Amino acid sequence: RPHLSMNALDGLMVEGVPLARIAAAAGTPTWVYSAGALRRRARALQAALVGDGLRAGIHYAVKANTSLAVLRVLAAEGLGADVVSEGELRAARAAGIPGSAIVFSGVGKTERELRLAIAEDIAQINIESAEEAAMLSAIAASLGRTARVALRVNPDVDARTHAKITTGRSENKFGVAIDDAPALYARIAGLPGLEPVGVATHIGSQITSGMAAYRAAYARLAELVEALWAAGLPVKHVDCGGGLGIPYRDEPAPMPEALAGAIKASLGRLNLPVMLEPGRWIAGPPGLLLASVVLQKQGADRRFLVLDAAMNDLVRPAMYEAWHGILPVGPVDFVSPVAPADVVGPVCETGDTFARGRALPSMTPGALVAFLDAGAYGAAMSSTYNMRPLAAEVLVDGTRFAVTRDRQSYEALLAGNRIPDWLEERSP
Ligand code: LLP
Repeated sequence: RPHLSMNALDGLMVEGVPLARIAAAAGTPTWVYSAGALRRRARALQAALVGDGLRAGIHYAVKANTSLAVLRVLAAEGLGADVVSEGELRAARAAGIPGSAIVFSGVGKTERELRLAIAEDIAQINIESAEEAAMLSAIAASLGRTARVALRVNPDVDARTHAKITTGRSENKFGVAIDDAPALYARIAGLPGLEPVGVATHIGSQITSGMAAYRAAYARLAELVEALWAAGLPVKHVDCGGGLGIPYRDEPAPMPEALAGAIKASLGRLNLPVMLEPGRWIAGPPGLLLASVVLQKQGADRRFLVLDAAMNDLVRPAMYEAWHGILPVGPVDFVSPVAPADVVGPVCETGDTFARGRALPSMTPGALVAFLDAGAYGAAMSSTYNMRPLAAEVLVDGTRFAVTRDRQSYEALLAGNRIPDWLEERSP
């Protein structure tokens, strides 16, 4: 995490900015993203692919982090977007990503979303079923347009990641069975308004168990492409999905070079351009969640650090038993001994626990802590549970920083709620 450093006086810094300054300016909890780290990771991924002689387009998976400022940084690096909803498509466009660099994935795109995708003339719509192909064909034909589509296949491999984020097994809802793909691809080629341009897969997320699953999935895709070619069908590129994991704790860190190698080994002989849809690998490490200690509480058998951030902000520990590094922001304390503490939020359920038995010093109210590697699936998954406003977001770039999303106001939190008039009449 080269964007993080500990300064003896200023404490933990993101690039050239002390987190304490950000907390003073924006309050807590606040998400903080390093533009430098985002750029570095986008470039590292591009370099790994180019280094292996691959022609590759990176479509950043917007779901990981939908901040317009983050999207703009990545767009400036030449990344396109992989979107899964109208909201994400709008966010990508609002950040300046052209339709020609946008791919639309997802198992349940609505008619309205498909219409918008066609209106924006996006690069590719990833079809996940025969039913969706028929629906998109009817919409495109009625608009007198042609939609470029890729067929997402389910290669039935086990990515050996958390069950809630594995997607490439036959029992998962995603894609079409690889055995059904040739017939469906041929059917798509004959449907009005559709132009099949490729095949796609995505086998899961936070893959850290080596490249075996990737290689197996891509090898099946390569065979499929050859079968499609043999049947005289056009396949112009292969969408390899996302999923590259990051080390949250001490997991082996797969490098982008390894993924590029797996793509080359399994798909290289096709000599086709490939697409990637990485989310976490790009946006995870550059982000952190900055929170304050509300109080330190001594329980019957343990110490609790109660923060002003909660599971509604960062849900990953509650939802996936995920581990995030937690650092005191400082300034550096050379005297207080560290001892185990449970780090919790103020929400009314036990699941609102970020960490158990974490080695941390004694902390007083107002002390700051940072949750590391929280740039992906952090803010993007937050909610307003317990009527807690969505946290602010800050982008750091060198010695500059800016609030890129205001903390949600209580007015905004209540907006749109109304009491029906027949209840009003009965009120005292
Ligand atoms: N492409 C498709 C079709 C996807 O479904 C996903 C993620 C990605 C790309 C990007 O995957 P990545 O490179 O970020 O692993 N909320 C979970 C992760 C859910 C991932 C869903 N799909 C978490 O916090 O771990």
